[in-house]
Amino acid sequence: MAVKDIMDALRSESLEDLGLKENLAQLVKDIKLVGSELDVLLYLPKTGLEDVLRAKVEKALSEIPDVEKVNVKFASAPPQQPQPQQAPQMPGAQPAFTKRKVPEVKHLIAVGSGKGGVGKSTVAANLALALAKLGYRVGLLDADIYGPSVPTLLGLKGERATVNERNRIVPVEKFGVKVLSIGFMLPSEETPVIWRGPMLMKALTQFLFDVEWGELDYLILDLPPGTGDVQLTLAQNVDISGAVVVTTPQDVALADVKKATSMFKEVQIPVLGVIENMAYFICPSDKQKYYIFGKGKTAEFASAYGLKILGSIPIDPEVAEKSDEGEPVVVSNPDSDVARAFYGIARIVAQELS
Ligand SMILES: Nc1ncnc2c1ncn2[C@@H]1O[C@H](COP(=O)(O)OP(=O)(O)OP(=O)(O)O)[C@@H](O)[C@H]1O
Ligand SMILES: [Mg+2]
Repeated sequence: MAVKDIMDALRSESLEDLGLKENLAQLVKDIKLVGSELDVLLYLPKTGLEDVLRAKVEKALSEIPDVEKVNVKFASAPPQQPQPQQAPQMPGAQPAFTKRKVPEVKHLIAVGSGKGGVGKSTVAANLALALAKLGYRVGLLDADIYGPSVPTLLGLKGERATVNERNRIVPVEKFGVKVLSIGFMLPSEETPVIWRGPMLMKALTQFLFDVEWGELDYLILDLPPGTGDVQLTLAQNVDISGAVVVTTPQDVALADVKKATSMFKEVQIPVLGVIENMAYFICPSDKQKYYIFGKGKTAEFASAYGLKILGSIPIDPEVAEKSDEGEPVVVSNPDSDVARAFYGIARIVAQELS
């Protein structure tokens, strides 16, 4: 990750020749990488050191290939002292199955499904925005590290994550929600991400625990499709309050959703309920509901699995359009049928977890 390399390079730059005991990294208050241009905000311990500190930053970063231009600014207040790390695990505990709680986050909600393309990311983003509009403090983590779509959905393409003076990742704020995606850390959209085993585990853990989320009522996790490495790693290691399962009312989608539901049950994550996406189409001319993929299948599935249906969301071309434009429908058209469905779901989810 570029930001880590940057902090390492700054850390290796001693300031002893200036009579300071800190290294350069310890003076960093904020850092932001946009494309190949880096903004660094440094604490200025003594006036008159501006030029020499700027030169040291440039020298330290000259070897970092991603950084072409460095802008250094100065602040008179020192960076906050790092908070003590979380208590270490108890001796003898099995680290692989100790479910860690994300500090300051009341409820972590996973949005999953067995099948791809059923609208998980759309649901995760709109649910997060609806909860925020209802007055809750909300975060959205794009845990689909192989195919992040949250940057597009929220109009945050090209956005870069920053690291603060405590060396923690600072999420990007949009529509009142704190957002983090691997998309904010990759040099380009086309950059492939390949993580497996312990590396994957490390990346995901960093994404949840090395982040300055602040106090949140809900952190929504947008999972990749399926029941693979990411889902299992998270399920076994992280204290997740509940899962929301997204499906469309077709047999092919429901068959995969059954697998996802069983997986959540196996790893003891309560399934809060099912969201039926693309449930029907409301014809603009006669306002009738047309059940394009059939009616009743999701209800049958839900009752067979003892699950609640949290809501049904109609098919609406505006959803896809607005998603591509980076303004989810809950924000762009809050009075639409789709947005109302999302607000209804948000209220039920909040109720179930309260
Ligand atoms: N209710 C809806 N009406 C119309 N289009 C929708 C609706 N829900 C989702 N879509 C569209 O369907 C496509 C797939 O949605 P989305 O990316 O949210 O699915 P996903 O399950 O996250 O996919 P993946 O498995 O690839 O992560 C997107 O183009 C989205 O805009
Ligand atoms: Mg998705």
